[in-house]
Amino acid sequence: MNRTLAILKPDCVKRNLVGDVVARIQKAGFKILGMKMVRLTREAAGEFYAVHRDRPFYADLVIFMTSGACVPLVLEKENAFEEFRKLIGATDPKEALAGTIRRDFAESKQENIVHGSDSPENAEREIAYFFSERELVDLR
Ligand code: RTP
Ligand code: MG
Repeated sequence: MNRTLAILKPDCVKRNLVGDVVARIQKAGFKILGMKMVRLTREAAGEFYAVHRDRPFYADLVIFMTSGACVPLVLEKENAFEEFRKLIGATDPKEALAGTIRRDFAESKQENIVHGSDSPENAEREIAYFFSERELVDLR
């Protein structure tokens, strides 16, 4: 078993899709170990996506991620990060496979509903960014 970090992005929250997307995640067999609602500051969003600092979409990405509430989630499953990236689909919803969350809900490459960590190392770093270990519960 391992863990990954998801973030339901401001478009997901504003469009009242939190319940639908969480239902998809649970139906796909992910266990939710942590969940909260946060409003990111510009500094926090900028730091979270710092790997993209030099990309042309970075400034807009920070504006988008601070435009409303986000819902970070800690998810557990075997091969959690790969399985979650499969469930959400490609960054651009037009390129995402049928049945993926981004294909079914996202409106653009930027406003693409959900973030998923891209490696086990980044998952642990990103989890620690939003949650302390004592906030993570396992009720099995
Ligand atoms: P994420 O990190 O949010 O899970 O997304 P990702 O791995 O699929 O894509 P990444 O390349 O890491 O990009 C991070 C987020 O930046 C926005 N983006 N906009 N307009 C554009 O060309 C563009 N490219 C990326 C998206 O919100 C993307 O998820
Ligand atoms: Mg990424």
